[in-house]
Amino acid sequence: MKILGIETSCDETGVAIFCETEGVIENRVYSQIDLHRKYGGVIPELASRDHIRKILPLIKSIFEERHLGKKDINGIAYTAGPGLVGPLLVGASLAKSLALAWGVPSIGVHHMEGHLLATLLTEDPPTYPFIALLVSGGHSQLIACYESQEYQLLGESQDDAAGEAFDKVAKMLGLDYPGGPVIEKLAAKGDPERFSFPRPMTKKPGLDFSFSGLKTAVANEINALARMTSNDKADLAASFQAAALETIRIKCERALDGTGIKSLVVAGGVSANLALRESLKKITHEKNVKIHYPPLDLCTDNGAMIAFAGYKRLCSGYQEDLTIQVRARWPLAN
Ligand code: KG4
Ligand code: ZN
Repeated sequence: MKILGIETSCDETGVAIFCETEGVIENRVYSQIDLHRKYGGVIPELASRDHIRKILPLIKSIFEERHLGKKDINGIAYTAGPGLVGPLLVGASLAKSLALAWGVPSIGVHHMEGHLLATLLTEDPPTYPFIALLVSGGHSQLIACYESQEYQLLGESQDDAAGEAFDKVAKMLGLDYPGGPVIEKLAAKGDPERFSFPRPMTKKPGLDFSFSGLKTAVANEINALARMTSNDKADLAASFQAAALETIRIKCERALDGTGIKSLVVAGGVSANLALRESLKKITHEKNVKIHYPPLDLCTDNGAMIAFAGYKRLCSGYQEDLTIQVRARWPLAN
């Protein structure tokens, strides 16, 4: 069985093929970063238009290069939400049209479930139950996963998502979009202790996050500097990253302690951050908790995670009609 996966929830056009016997056999991502960079963030209308331009040629080139035809595909998975509605509609309408033309099922996938399940595409996949930390540009959530598709939300961001905070701080420092990888690189050269930024909501009980106060604290330090040198920038990046990562670690520990679960899955774009992985090692050492990550190339948005999540759904008997429906917001627990 082969599933075509289409991801268009934000600014990456992702197309992939998951094969039941061989795993991910194709995974191509066209990034729109150059298009959005000058605005310092994603412009939804431009994103939709670019997905329309790129998606079909991307699918066509994969099929031509791999000598695949419509008879080789058994289902088409697409991201049905959460995300930007225009971009989601591009992927959903194409998936439904191809499904109708080829006589195969279409499978609407939850974007964050795609991120989560990408962890199963490793040599040492997690087993249920586990705690999932989902940290991306749109989400910061802690979820207890008891079984396949049985999720309980434990806590989430009350304002900015973790990746969004990286992006906004990068913008304040005059760095490129997306901010996560740039901050990570710059932070490696800076002093994480020069600025003592808050670890928001760690003193209060609970598993919710809040990153907007941390972002404001960084803005205040920038304003207090007469002129921001490159050393200042590196120290600000390092101190911000240290505060964000420590906050995340404390919340993960709390979720693991509260549930007694001994396995942690970290997914979403921010899971590509190697300093985060380093920081979470403390949990492995002190609490004997096993931590799982997706393969590095599947941490940020891609079609492979959607193809795989669609495959899992199809196997569990999921069916949908040809109504085109996407959701900007969509709690994973539903
Ligand atoms: O999952 P993703 O590709 O798209 C969404 O679903 O949002 O995540 C993108 C987010 C961006 O905010 C980006 O800055 C962040 O993930 N990100 C990182 C890193 N790589 C990507 N944040 C911190 N460190 C990284 N290395
Ligand atoms: Zn994502």
